[in-house]
Amino acid sequence: MNRKIKWGIIGLGKIARKFAADLQLSKESVLEGVASRDLSRAKLFAKEFNALKYYGSYESLANDSDIDVIYIATPHVFHFENTMMCLKKGKAVLCEKPMGINSQEVEIMVHEARSRNLFLMEGLWTRFIPATEKLIDILDNNEIGAINSVSADFGFKGEVNPMARLYNKKLGGGSLLDIGIYPVYLSILALGLPKSIAANAEMTDTGVDSSCSMIFKYENGASATLESTFEEDTAIEGIIEGVEGSVKLHNRFHHTEKLTINRIGKIEELNLRYKGFGYFHEIEEVNKCLILGHSESPKLPLSTSLELMLLLDRVKEGIGLEYESRVLH
Ligand SMILES: NC(=O)c1ccc[n+]([C@@H]2O[C@H](COP(=O)([O-])OP(=O)(O)OC[C@H]3O[C@@H](n4cnc5c(N)ncnc54)[C@H](OP(=O)(O)O)[C@@H]3O)[C@@H](O)[C@H]2O)c1
Repeated sequence: MNRKIKWGIIGLGKIARKFAADLQLSKESVLEGVASRDLSRAKLFAKEFNALKYYGSYESLANDSDIDVIYIATPHVFHFENTMMCLKKGKAVLCEKPMGINSQEVEIMVHEARSRNLFLMEGLWTRFIPATEKLIDILDNNEIGAINSVSADFGFKGEVNPMARLYNKKLGGGSLLDIGIYPVYLSILALGLPKSIAANAEMTDTGVDSSCSMIFKYENGASATLESTFEEDTAIEGIIEGVEGSVKLHNRFHHTEKLTINRIGKIEELNLRYKGFGYFHEIEEVNKCLILGHSESPKLPLSTSLELMLLLDRVKEGIGLEYESRVLH
């Protein structure tokens, strides 16, 4: 396992900075190159995060034959074209969440990666942190019995700026795709896919959802109550109730470091620290997959990303939200 994985990053905004910081904690990783639409930004970023090379276009980075895997950190609407460009140049890809703007995009991306036998994974970093690993153990071992319900919220009071990524429809703005994806993913982890959904949203003048409330119902009678909002600060907690107990994911539930497990009155509190900003764990997963020659992560397979996007499409349809896709017919 001495091989180093050579990373490239495309789109040097907020999340790229946290990711690059965590990459420095990973002994198996080298930040080989970074790319921005602006060469001077790439140069500054490279200096700050010890990248070996910098590029003023995304394509130049994808042409760098030294790079093994590219992390796509652009706004959602560009994930499809950026990922497809990298895959077509033979690169493995870690693409930020949501993997695309709709399931049609994700299907094409998955098909492209599979047909080229290239690694592709969605940057659902929350899957790999220690608390989620523990939660999955609890669920797999049936420690709280059959699951009755899931509730999870993710809300913060954001600055309203119609041009900024969160509100700008042309950049894939809206609470559902940006933060609602985390409660929805938690519901999939605990309950799988729902039989029916009901969703309500408040829409902004820019035509995106500033908040979205969802109720999912399942074949076995279970339900999930989920919420995302840019309109207020919420508890940002998750609770999974089973017939023999419950698990609480404390604030901020999607990257929590604290679980409270209640097994019929016997309460256990677990502190589960993650490394760096938490992205370290997904980086290690990608490295491991590449070293082992896997083209998908067994922990976050492409089928899950597709299911997640199909479910988000159902919610979008329910609230009358549609984005222009960059898929060319
Ligand atoms: N996993 C997480 O915890 C997490 C957290 C936040 C965001 N995200 C995801 O990461 C992605 C980026 O979010 P962010 O908060 O980092 O956004 P951001 O700060 O706005 O950065 C996005 C970057 O994308 C590039 N870009 C390319 N075309 C663009 C355009 N037309 N307009 C604006 N930027 C453009 C820019 O980089 P250059 O100018 O350098 O080319 C920009 O800096 C989103 O899909 C989001 O869902 C994930």
